[in-house]
Order: sequence, then C-alpha cells, then structure tokens
Amino acid sequence: MPGGEPAILVDGLVKRYGELLAVDHISFQVNRGEIYGFLGPNGSGKTTTIRMLVGLAQPDEGHARVLGYHLPAGISQAKRYMGVVPDVSNLYDELSALDNLLFMARLYGVPREEQKPRAEQLLRDFGLYERRKDRFSTFSWGMKRALTIACALIHEPSLLFLDEPTTGLDAAAARSLRSLISGLREKGLTIFLTTHYLEEADLLCDRIAILVRGRIVRIDTPAHLKRLVQMESLVEFTFRGDILPLAKELESRLGEAKAALIDPNTIRIYGGDPAEVFDTIFQFSLDNAIGIEAASTIRPSLEDAFLKIAGLSPRVTSAEKSPGKGRR
Ligand SMILES: Nc1ncnc2c1ncn2[C@@H]1O[C@H](COP(=O)(O)OP(=O)(O)OP(=O)(O)O)[C@@H](O)[C@H]1O
Ligand SMILES: [Mg+2]
Repeated sequence: MPGGEPAILVDGLVKRYGELLAVDHISFQVNRGEIYGFLGPNGSGKTTTIRMLVGLAQPDEGHARVLGYHLPAGISQAKRYMGVVPDVSNLYDELSALDNLLFMARLYGVPREEQKPRAEQLLRDFGLYERRKDRFSTFSWGMKRALTIACALIHEPSLLFLDEPTTGLDAAAARSLRSLISGLREKGLTIFLTTHYLEEADLLCDRIAILVRGRIVRIDTPAHLKRLVQMESLVEFTFRGDILPLAKELESRLGEAKAALIDPNTIRIYGGDPAEVFDTIFQFSLDNAIGIEAASTIRPSLEDAFLKIAGLSPRVTSAEKSPGKGRR
C-alpha cells in the first residue's frame, strides 16, 4: 500500500435495491491502524456498505479504494490483505474448529508449513484450543463468533471487517471478544466494525460514523459525540423540603438553564454549565435555608448523542426496527 494511503477511501457510494436507497451517497475515510465504527439502527445500510467494500455487492454509484486498490477491479488483490467476519458465520458446521481454520488457510494460500502453526496459535489466542477437534456445529454462539474471527485472521490481513462481532454474546463473552479486538489493533490491524451497541463503539472505536437510513449523519470521535450532548447536561437536585413556593425565584437565578419540577422536592435542570448550575443551587439553598438531600449529574451516553445527532426520538428509532424499515 502506498505510503499515506488510507486503509479505506469511499466517495459518494450508492447502493439501490429497487426503489430503496440502501446506501445513499456515503463518503468516509478509514486511516491505517484505527478502529472505525459504523453505528446505526437496523436497516441503516451497515452490512450493505461492508458487502460493497469486500466485493460481495456492486455499488451503483461512487468510488471506493481499499488498501490502495480501486474497487471493483482490484478486489482480488485487496482480498489478500483483508479479513471478513460477516454478520452470519460462513464456517462449515461439519468441520472441526481446527479443520475450518486449515480450510481457510488453504483458501487464502497460506504457505503449507505455516498453516497448522498459525491455526493452533489462533485457537490459543481465542481460547478455543481445548475444543479444536470439536465440530463447529457443537459450538456455543460465542465460540462460533470467536472462531469466525480467528478464521478471518488466518492469512494475517492488515484490514479486518467485523459485522456486529458481539451481537448475541453474553456480557462476559462480549467483554473478552472486545479485548481481543483491542489486542488486534495493538498489533497494527485496521478494523472496520459495525455495531448497534453504542457503549461498544465508545469503548472500541477511534472514530464513529453514524448511519441513518443509508446516510452518514455524523463522523466524530466518541468523546466529541458525547461532548455534543454534554452541553445539554442534566443535573438533578432533591431538597429537604418543598420548593414549590420558591420555584419562581429559582428560575430567575438559573439564567440559560431550564428547570423542571419532578416532584415538590426534586428538580431537574437542563442545559447551562453544570458547574455554574451547582454553584447557583448551593447558594439558593443557603439563602433559603433549605437543605439539599441529593445532587447528581446525569451523564449523556453515546446513545443520547446518537439520538440527538440523528434527530430521532427513541420512538422513531424503535419504529425503524419494525418491518418495512429503511424505506423512504
Ligand atoms: N439483497 C437485498 N435485497 C433487497 N434489499 C436489501 C438487500 N440487502 C439489504 N437490503 C435492504 O437494504 C437496507 C439496508 O440493509 P443492511 O442489511 O445494510 O442494514 P444494516 O444496517 O446492516 O442493518 P442491521 O443492523 O439489521 O444488520 C435494508 O432496508 C434492507 O432491507
Ligand atoms: Mg447488518
């Protein structure tokens, strides 16, 4: 790959299925060595984007360059350096874990003498060595995901596509898979991953593209995405007495921030600078001799950021998960 060339370069990519614009003029760039997250609700076009980048679907418009190779012409060269973990496993049920790895090794032209040592090392790395002789069909969902990733690494790719690597895993399995993924980045791999899990994208990704109905609505670091909503922070105070009679006075002190009464003792304050809000409230409580029982800031999650940026209310997002999703 030429020096300075990003791992993935996408410009105006479009995929149509009949009337449906599954991927709608997206452009982005994945730098070498980063974990890049594609985050979006069901049907937003994440898998379709991966399928185009790995040569399984033809774009209708636009350009893509992967590892310096122009698609679609350069796909077979690019494939030698990329690993793909599809959303549904592509391994053979009737083969053992080891045989699946060896099969992939042959498929990718791994030198004969390296096939077994590499396969065994991957089985160890992924905690599957003890089960290497067991058939894939007997594996748990989590073990299947792990082996599918192992198989995608057999030819030592420099770019790995992971389509929802942790979907369906329990918390512990997801955590260990995430640490494996982080470990791969440490080794210099570039990783393109899709997920619904906002916290996962937050934990793993250097940058995140948020996809809504086939369009990228925002590309940013997890920290920036969170900061965007932090400006609309939420602080909650519970007082030791009824503050209803003091509501007007409180409101006048808050300036830009807005207060909402949850019950006679509790208010929520939206917006404004959280530090200033705290100062104001403490002063208010001293002046009025009314104690504060509890105070908390509610930190926005990446989910809040996602909903705000995408301009979708939670209701709309869940509606997109119902049949007919993504149509417009
Ligand atoms: N082969 C196909 N034929 C027709 N429509 C398709 C095909 N593949 C995908 N679509 C449609 O394209 C849209 C995007 O689908 P895609 O699978 O890329 O979404 P996704 O973001 O991966 O969703 P999920 O989070 O559910 O995996 C959806 O509306 C889907 O129904
Ligand atoms: Mg998908």
